[in-house]
Amino acid sequence: MILTISGITKSYGTNLALDRFTAALEPGIYALLGPNGSGKSTLMNILTDNLKADSGSITYTSDEGVTEDVLKMGVRFREKLGFMPQYPGLYPNFSVERFMWYMAALKGMTKADSMKQIPEILSEVELDDVMRRKIGALSGGMKQRLALAQAVLGDPEILILDEPTAGLDPKQRISIRNYISRIAFNKIVLIATHVVPDIEFIARDVIFLKKGVIVDNAPPHVLTEKIAGSVWIVPCAEDEVQGMQNRFRVTNIARDETTGTVLLRVLNEKKPSEGAGAAAPSLEDYYLHVFGDEASRN
Ligand SMILES: Nc1ncnc2c1ncn2[C@@H]1O[C@H](COP(=O)(O)OP(=O)(O)O)[C@@H](O)[C@H]1O
Ligand SMILES: [Mg+2]
Repeated sequence: MILTISGITKSYGTNLALDRFTAALEPGIYALLGPNGSGKSTLMNILTDNLKADSGSITYTSDEGVTEDVLKMGVRFREKLGFMPQYPGLYPNFSVERFMWYMAALKGMTKADSMKQIPEILSEVELDDVMRRKIGALSGGMKQRLALAQAVLGDPEILILDEPTAGLDPKQRISIRNYISRIAFNKIVLIATHVVPDIEFIARDVIFLKKGVIVDNAPPHVLTEKIAGSVWIVPCAEDEVQGMQNRFRVTNIARDETTGTVLLRVLNEKKPSEGAGAAAPSLEDYYLHVFGDEASRN
């Protein structure tokens, strides 16, 4: 299976949100990484036919080698898709369980499949305790997990997840991340996020999107390799922190309260100070390298 996205362009009035987006996706987890406004949701809404592109095409190639335009495939393509939108419209008066049965019916699932999958998925996303509760009475994190649950329902070949961990606490983030990586086998999974740790260790490829343009599309280790030798741990005193921040791109500040020393994480091609030690670059470092001050505004 290959999902081929070719030259997808979309403007809202004079605002170019997506500029000739091109990628070929095969089974595996892909991260779509970029700050707010970079065009992630626009792409996802186009992939799921909730929004029309101005130009470009999307084709689906089956394992048998048959290639078709997804818009021409219509419902045959939509049946392969699971979509978790960024702002999912959930029905507040439905119970969790009823909503899942309703979504299963919309997806054309059999009663037997629904009876098997609904309790399994609700248990995986830790909503089995609140199956009878009205959606309107769920917490933000629970609603988020329900939105993921309905996307996964029907075991779709292609999962499109728009900011799946938004509003979750760290423990829930980890649990959702592990769940996504477990179910990703043999599927194309595209995850939009601006939270690097959510995808750092599960994505085969990371697509960096900056103002609607792909600036990178590569495995995480290839990206971090690009800034090898440019990440430093710099010990300094509290009163030197501001000066260092003015001179260098400081990506983290760790304070040791007992000794009163500060350890800065600095992105710089040259060694920033005598006492600086080289550190292994992380994907977060690379993100800050690409987006700089733009990233910190999120
Ligand atoms: N419905 C819309 N009408 C007008 N502009 C929009 C609309 N949706 C998104 N945009 C603009 O398109 C750009 C990309 O937005 P979006 O795809 O939501 O980015 P992201 O999901 O990465 O935050 C932004 O500049 C945003 O303001
Ligand atoms: Mg978005």
